[in-house]
Amino acid sequence: MNSVSSAVAYDFTGKTIAVTGGGGVLCSALCQALAACHANVAVLDRDLALAERTVAALGGTHGQHKALCIDVLDKPAIEGAVAALLAEYGAVDGLINGAGGNHPQATTNAEHSFFDLPLESLRFVAELNLLGTVLPSQCFGRAMAKRKQGVILNISSMNAFRPLTRIPAYSAAKAAVSNFTQWLAVHLAQEYSPAIRVNAIAPGFFLTEQNRFLLTDKATGALTPRGQAIMGHTPMGRFGVPEDLAGASLWLLSPAASFVTGIVLPIDGGFSAYSGV
Ligand SMILES: NC(=O)c1ccc[n+]([C@@H]2O[C@H](COP(=O)([O-])OP(=O)(O)OC[C@H]3O[C@@H](n4cnc5c(N)ncnc54)[C@H](O)[C@@H]3O)[C@@H](O)[C@H]2O)c1
Repeated sequence: MNSVSSAVAYDFTGKTIAVTGGGGVLCSALCQALAACHANVAVLDRDLALAERTVAALGGTHGQHKALCIDVLDKPAIEGAVAALLAEYGAVDGLINGAGGNHPQATTNAEHSFFDLPLESLRFVAELNLLGTVLPSQCFGRAMAKRKQGVILNISSMNAFRPLTRIPAYSAAKAAVSNFTQWLAVHLAQEYSPAIRVNAIAPGFFLTEQNRFLLTDKATGALTPRGQAIMGHTPMGRFGVPEDLAGASLWLLSPAASFVTGIVLPIDGGFSAYSGV
């Protein structure tokens, strides 16, 4: 690993990492992991109370943490956040594009056929996941390009490799996030600096508020047929827990991954490797 020792690579002292969707289930765990490695963590979320809850939970760590109310689809607001963070910290070293998700109305079921999925729900999911990754990458990426260094981590999904049934907009949008990850990695390295890296993680199946209604029965908590199918295709035989994302994310954000750009890393208990036979 170059001349950087492992211990130094994972010490984020003095580094500032902005995390969109940092108030959510998965990204609040990533904020915890970063803060435990002494990063300054800027938690950006449309829901300020959630962002503040994440920051409050980082108490006792070494970095200077901050909660900001930001909609990832509001470019002027993101630009304002970048300016505020640069003024406060001097630089933003990393960006996690964590805001994203599906919408129940963009999910096919007995009541909603694909043909009737409402335009506004499809647009909501497509925009949140794709443009919600592109716009912060533009705003934070500009500052990284000026400084000729930085690292961006996107959140893709199993849907990006092969779409899952029932969630067409989410599958397409996450495939677009993976594609954009590769595009941006090449663009920033070639046009601005090889020291700017862009990667993605592709989480497997984590029980969160977004997918609980698809994977477990509301009344009994038992696995739905879909939940059972996922379990049957996950060689490790369990859903992920948010902390499972920490190690790979810290690696991709750290100098330990200094020659790694443009990859989409599955963190899925083996789901994407298993043919089912
Ligand atoms: N849960 C899973 O199994 C799973 C699997 C693969 C990928 N993912 C992806 O991981 C990421 C985090 O998912 P999660 O399960 O923690 O979701 P979550 O709903 O718990 O968190 C999402 C966070 O994003 C915020 N947010 C939503 N829209 C926003 C906007 N327009 N601007 C700013 N913030 C906004 C929400 O307030 C929330 O705090 C998402 O991109 C999701 O698609 C989740």
